[in-house]
Amino acid sequence: IKAAIFASGTGSNFDSIVRAAEQGEISCDVRLLVCDRSNARVIEKAKKKNIDTFVFSPKEFGGKDAYEQQILLECRKRGIEWIFLAGYMRLIGPVLLAPYQNRIINIHPSLLPAFPGKDAIGQAFEKQVKVTGVTIHYIDNGMDTGPIIEQEAVRITAEDTRESLQKKIQAIEHSLYPKVIQTLLVEEEIH
Ligand code: GRF
Repeated sequence: IKAAIFASGTGSNFDSIVRAAEQGEISCDVRLLVCDRSNARVIEKAKKKNIDTFVFSPKEFGGKDAYEQQILLECRKRGIEWIFLAGYMRLIGPVLLAPYQNRIINIHPSLLPAFPGKDAIGQAFEKQVKVTGVTIHYIDNGMDTGPIIEQEAVRITAEDTRESLQKKIQAIEHSLYPKVIQTLLVEEEIH
């Protein structure tokens, strides 16, 4: 199965998915990175792995439909079947949603529907909740609102700082995302 990863930032989840694919833990080929920030560290990670990158500046297009048309083209050129969002800081619009219905998933660092949007880890820390976690969900037209596929919880202890919590969440993300991807791909093969 051919997949694209969309990311805007560091790309630690990008790396964990690519590594799992290389090691045969997930039966997919990451063929494309789509990135909306020319200075994002994830771009270097893709280059190191010889993965194609489509880096765009939204300002250069006449709106979301226009740049998503271009993304769609880049995906179609490479036969992309699944899209994994990993820290992509934009909502997906109808141009991509329609052709990739139920084939776009996202990872979010909270137990949705709690703490959607930006800085979910900071939000959870400030609210002093005792349990937060990671959610993987399908993408719909809202922000972090699509059907939930899987979740894993983590306790926030008295000793935790924002940084230690972030580390715990990232560790969960890096093992959970590849696992969930593989489950979805296997399910798809069976049906
Ligand atoms: C992750 O915490 C992910 O859950 C969120 O954005 C972050 C991306 O981190 N959507 P990275 O770029 O994969 O390191």
